[in-house]
Amino acid sequence: MTVTKPLPHDSGSMHVSGAARYVDDIPMPPTTLHLCFGQSPVAHGVIKSLDLTAVRAASGVVAVLTAEDLPHANDVSPSIHDEPLLATGTVHYIGQPVFLVVADSHLNARKAARLAKFDIAERTPILSYDDAIAAKSYFEGGPRTWEKGKAKPAIKSARHKLSGRIAMGGQEHFYLEGQAAAALPQENGDMLVHSSTQHPTEIQHKVAEALGLPMHGVRVECRRMGGGFGGKESQGNALAVACAVAAAQTGRPCKMRYDRDDDMTITGKRHDFRIDYEVGFDDQGRIQGIIFDQYTRGGWAQDLTAAVADRAMMHADNAYLLPNAKITSHRLKTNMQSATAYRGFGGPQGVVGIERVIDHIAHHLGRDPVEVRRANYYAEMGTTPAQPNTTPYNMEVKDFILNQMTDQLMETSDYAARRAAIADWNATSPILKRGIAFSPVKFGISFTLTHLNQAGALVHLYADGSIMLNHGGTEMGQGLFQKVAQVAAHRFGVTTDRVKITATDTAKVPNTSATAASSGSDLNGMAVLDACNKIRARMAEHLDGGAPVTFENGRVKWADEDISFEDAAQRCYANRVSLSATGFYKTPDLSWDRDAGTGRPFFYFAHGCAVTEVVIDTLTGENRILRADVLHDAGASLNPAIDKGQVEGGYVQGAGWLTTEELVWNDAGVLKTHAPSTYKIPACSDRPQVFNVDLMNTENPEATIYRSKAVGEPPFMLGISALLALSDAVAACGAAYPDLNAPATPERILKAVQKVRDGD
Ligand code: MTE
Ligand code: MOS
Repeated sequence: MTVTKPLPHDSGSMHVSGAARYVDDIPMPPTTLHLCFGQSPVAHGVIKSLDLTAVRAASGVVAVLTAEDLPHANDVSPSIHDEPLLATGTVHYIGQPVFLVVADSHLNARKAARLAKFDIAERTPILSYDDAIAAKSYFEGGPRTWEKGKAKPAIKSARHKLSGRIAMGGQEHFYLEGQAAAALPQENGDMLVHSSTQHPTEIQHKVAEALGLPMHGVRVECRRMGGGFGGKESQGNALAVACAVAAAQTGRPCKMRYDRDDDMTITGKRHDFRIDYEVGFDDQGRIQGIIFDQYTRGGWAQDLTAAVADRAMMHADNAYLLPNAKITSHRLKTNMQSATAYRGFGGPQGVVGIERVIDHIAHHLGRDPVEVRRANYYAEMGTTPAQPNTTPYNMEVKDFILNQMTDQLMETSDYAARRAAIADWNATSPILKRGIAFSPVKFGISFTLTHLNQAGALVHLYADGSIMLNHGGTEMGQGLFQKVAQVAAHRFGVTTDRVKITATDTAKVPNTSATAASSGSDLNGMAVLDACNKIRARMAEHLDGGAPVTFENGRVKWADEDISFEDAAQRCYANRVSLSATGFYKTPDLSWDRDAGTGRPFFYFAHGCAVTEVVIDTLTGENRILRADVLHDAGASLNPAIDKGQVEGGYVQGAGWLTTEELVWNDAGVLKTHAPSTYKIPACSDRPQVFNVDLMNTENPEATIYRSKAVGEPPFMLGISALLALSDAVAACGAAYPDLNAPATPERILKAVQKVRDGD
């Protein structure tokens, strides 16, 4: 079956040979102008005056725009219109775009942007959690709370109680291709935009508002991104709008790409979180009641913070049935980059919270953490639950399969024997200590904003039997285009080389959602299937009056007839059968009341689990991941090669978040880690030395595209087992609980070792 084949990524050879085109590679007319933002040098203040004389006089500068020069909307916010393209009066973070330089070259634009003289009346910035809490600096007016059962009395009456706090850092997306856009003026005021974006429709919408055009006046195209990871859901808006505005004003094509330091200084990152917990449990470690207070710094503008923080609340249970749970979310507004979507969209932060609690409970009771996890699991699919198998937001969990997955991984990773061997090894190793940990993930699939769960497609069959495929999803390296091409090829019974994968284009498929929430293949695969079905039905109707016709192995067969697929296409064309169709899909059975915190926000859950072994050096805090074993649930995988790649990449990116990737702002609000020299993402040599990755190949009980499951984000959370393994290694140094915060850098590990040794 074409839909289960481990075919390589359609652009794989172009990626490695350098032939794949990204926005910055598109040949532009020689008249093209280049843009750069002038950025706010202070974290909070009122602009008293802005002297741009030197900027305007700089070599190659063609125009300099401020907010007053914008003819229509000055807004690049994806949510509540609180994010001007160029600052008006007040500046809110260091790096905020204040003016726009339009010059004859990228370098000239960049040089000129640094020549402005600002006179800013500074205000005290709100930077820390405590400052923001004290100032009641909240998005959406204040905290949000959801409760299931009665958490406080349940904790009170429990046999054991614990409380604690875990802090975890944010994360820079570090897509290999930085943010980029280009705009080319068309006749009659229309605009063509190329954008490295996960959300072409939103770019179209924002550019249309900025130019005062209806959406039909703007066409946005994206062939591929060199990585997005959530960082191109909304953060590409500013560049595309800037290009369009400058192109409209000058009548010339305009292009903008952020250099890496600008990219890191200007754009939002993963939300950092601080989570306080209080938990009551029994002798087995079964949680009876739990209270979470999740605090997050959302930065200066709301962007997607409400939805990200909601998802953190929705994943505060991870894989565990919490009979009484109270979750409060504090979305703090601070004078920093506006934190945004990042793989997992708040889910990972919520999951780290509960995984820390379970780990703490296991340490307190002296029990194996795997047993405590199992004792708290939801009831397995096909078993009769002893109590309602519902999440803290009252959704019934019907498809839980982590019991069987855990059994399987315990076997294949040889967990029990290795855990015993590590304990023996640690007893005779004074300096180096090893640690091992298991962690599961259960991740909800669907956009929590219900109306986004829709997709469209456009499929053409040409008379020579070749197929052109278009849908609303975008390609960012995750292999979506290949997987969806496999769906189209399979439906027509041909090989994928007959299917042309084309750039995402707002003129071909309108009103699309961002490619996000891991739902790309679920949604677009179904929309393409719908379009293919329509064409097939018309062909069958013509060829044999609607009687059964099969499309297999490049042949079309009915009754005694057996002709090639191209002959079938040719015959239908010659008989005036329409061979082009649109397709549409919307996810069924969703209902969600965000204010009450109840309903069915997710169509289904994807699962995974991992065992990680690490070693730390207790003199320096240095550490290595020695081995990772992963079992991941991608349903009946559409493409096991691509899906495994997603699992491997997700694990490594998740482990990077919690170990080496550290964002540091100084007291003035300057992001000090704004380049690869100071911000450390995992390199090839940091991947686990032994890395065993398997897919759990069982069908999705829900009727998704060929019973597959979304795979983009869930495996990110398997990296949490690395943090827990480091904590386990630290715990081998003494009796106290390590309380290790993330990222677990060598410094933090060293401190934790000290703390555990001192026994406090
Ligand atoms: N994989 C690669 N190679 N590059 C990316 O940018 N983004 C991740 C994930 N995997 C990403 C990736 C994120 S944040 C999401 S939401 C999904 O891919 C989006 O694609 P999908 O819905 O097609 O899985
Ligand atoms: Mo992914 S964070 O939903 O783009």
